[in-house]
Amino acid sequence: MPETQSTNWSPTSWTQFPAAQQPTYPDQAALDVVVQQLAALPPLVTSWEIESLKTQLAEAAAGERFLLQGGDCAENFADCEPSTIANKLKILLQMSLVLVHGTHKRIIRVGRFAGQYAKPRSSDTETVDGRTLPSYRGDIVNGIAFEPDSRQPDPTLMLRGYERAALTLNFVRSLIDGGFADLHHPEYWDVEFVKHSPQAAEYQRMVESIGESLRFMETLSGVQVGQLNRVDFFTSHEGLHLLYEQAQTRQVPHRRGWYNLSTHFPWLGMRTANADGAHVEYFRGIANPIAVKIGPDMTEQWLAELLDVLHPNNEPGRLTFITRFGAHHIAEQLPPLIDAVEKAGKRVLWVCDPMHANTETTANGYKTRKFEHILAELEQAFEIHKMKGTYLGGVHFELTGDTVTECTGGARGLNENDLKRAYKSHVDPRLNYEQALEMAMIIARRVQ
Ligand code: PEP
Ligand code: CO
Repeated sequence: MPETQSTNWSPTSWTQFPAAQQPTYPDQAALDVVVQQLAALPPLVTSWEIESLKTQLAEAAAGERFLLQGGDCAENFADCEPSTIANKLKILLQMSLVLVHGTHKRIIRVGRFAGQYAKPRSSDTETVDGRTLPSYRGDIVNGIAFEPDSRQPDPTLMLRGYERAALTLNFVRSLIDGGFADLHHPEYWDVEFVKHSPQAAEYQRMVESIGESLRFMETLSGVQVGQLNRVDFFTSHEGLHLLYEQAQTRQVPHRRGWYNLSTHFPWLGMRTANADGAHVEYFRGIANPIAVKIGPDMTEQWLAELLDVLHPNNEPGRLTFITRFGAHHIAEQLPPLIDAVEKAGKRVLWVCDPMHANTETTANGYKTRKFEHILAELEQAFEIHKMKGTYLGGVHFELTGDTVTECTGGARGLNENDLKRAYKSHVDPRLNYEQALEMAMIIARRVQ
């Protein structure tokens, strides 16, 4: 632990450290009222769910499970509606079935949802036609419209975000409890696109055989698959907006420590992972399993500091490293960091985020990612861990269950001209339903 960091932790001790990426609210009294209200509302998740996830992540780190984490780059308040939520859940469940089939491992399913409302920005302000306004920091902070009123950070949006997170979670839990037909009937899946893939016949067989094994399991156990693993769905978001996180950080009866009860699995973004900053201070004190994004700027020294501060006791399941180097850099940048973790004698769960360092901008101004680059980073991650004798225990995608056109490539061969057709993301480009399912099929095939 850096000398400056005191062991005296509390949910507000982060305020003694420099906090990057926080909004500047115009009215401190109004902000205080909101934080008090948030702190009094019931939690969104429970400590026993959080501990159960931690146990599962420990099993993944030991090579016995595989993590599938995915969802939007940023959730929008407007997307808190039934079909968007159901489609997102559906694609994650379908991908997880494909992955069970391919990896023969139990899959941990974690959504980037029910709280993924705050975004880090490269600049505090944005200038358009000579007018400068605060940058858009996500629906929980301000509005995207380039108008002074909308861009002014409004603390009550934290309450609106918390409520939408609760509504999302309630609907997700109900869908899963109700058995959600798509889970056990692969014949309902929309797999038209596989016809466009050279692996069409193989993918068709994969879907059929998933259906057969599900029916077999149901016959054998006498219970529907949907009921076999009812509540095994977890939430995650970037723990960026520290007042929002702090307000829902609580102690619970009969357990030690403090839990962030706004989500099961918060992660630290690349821009706020400096070892002596406010975010690391906040994260070190919560009992949740946590993840840190690791990108090209990470050094062995910095990684060692993070291991000291965030993972002092080497508690199983506590720490996940989500690596995002890009298809062209992972081969040179991942191996020394794996060595640094081994040298520290710590165990972490290694996950690959093949999205964030493969972003590019097209000539007509669309932020996009190529399916082939995403796949190339992922395949190298599998290879590198195999070579090093470590285990790639999960994947982290930005995806949606809807038919958007934001990433190019995949079986249908989307190209740059297709992007304008259905580009919906305000931030990063996501895999669409078909691209996400195809990605899962390719992983399943390679791992087999
Ligand atoms: C994200 O996950 O949307 C993100 C901003 O990632 P990173 O911190 O890895 O850039
Ligand atoms: Co993103």
